[in-house]
Amino acid sequence: MLSITNASLMRGTTAVFAGLNLQLHEPRIGLIGDNGAGKSSLFRMACGLDAPQSGTVTVQGLPAYRINTQRPNMVGMMFQNPDDQIVFPTVQEELALALGLSRREAQEKARAFLSGRGLQDWAERAISSLSHGQRQHVCWLAILLSSPALILLDEPFASLDLPGQALLHADMARVPQHIIVSTHVLEHLSSFDRVIWLDKGQVRADGDPDTVCRLYRADVAARAARGPTRHLSHTLPT
Ligand SMILES: Nc1ncnc2c1ncn2[C@@H]1O[C@H](COP(=O)(O)OP(=O)(O)OP(=O)(O)O)[C@@H](O)[C@H]1O
Ligand SMILES: [Mg+2]
Repeated sequence: MLSITNASLMRGTTAVFAGLNLQLHEPRIGLIGDNGAGKSSLFRMACGLDAPQSGTVTVQGLPAYRINTQRPNMVGMMFQNPDDQIVFPTVQEELALALGLSRREAQEKARAFLSGRGLQDWAERAISSLSHGQRQHVCWLAILLSSPALILLDEPFASLDLPGQALLHADMARVPQHIIVSTHVLEHLSSFDRVIWLDKGQVRADGDPDTVCRLYRADVAARAARGPTRHLSHTLPT
């Protein structure tokens, strides 16, 4: 599904990846690691927002940077910050965009979809009147409606309350598409096929959720035990 071969990526003056290799085919993959490890950068390469300076990133064999123009519904990305994703002023207009139909038909479908989820009151709501977590939920609804083959969720649980997290967790288990999720809420990954721990742009561990999350937790605990200023990975000697 997603193939990253010898990819090197600079963002500003930061070398985020230097020869990253990952072949990602499992239906459910989790991405974990400290702040700044490169999770969002990996997603940006996968959906074609950033192209690696060297190496290749392909989705089903197509270079990721060509996806938006050639296969617009192949990859759907839910951004870490919902305000980077939402473009329309109301919920129903934003969801209508995801459907890609004529305005009237799309808005009717968007309203029906919201009703089906008990959210009929949200249709006319101004996006600006929603809380951060509610805006994050709108982004997930837009992904559900557009139904891309590969779904990238960048810290989708970050602002959700517990019922919202449970709903997203259940939705993710239900949809047939391939999903890659970055998260700091490791419990949500326990039933996943594979988890990858990124550390300073490199794969530190890759395997089943229990093993990889246990290794990451142990490393975090060891760093915390070394002292209050040593828990951040970027302060550690390389
Ligand atoms: N717009 C940018 N310009 C320059 N450097 C950036 C930019 N965005 C991120 N970086 C750097 O790239 C590296 C990877 O950042 P990235 O956002 O991919 O990390 P992350 O794993 O998603 O972290 P978080 O858990 O905080 O979301 C970091 O060193 C970060 O400082
Ligand atoms: Mg991030």
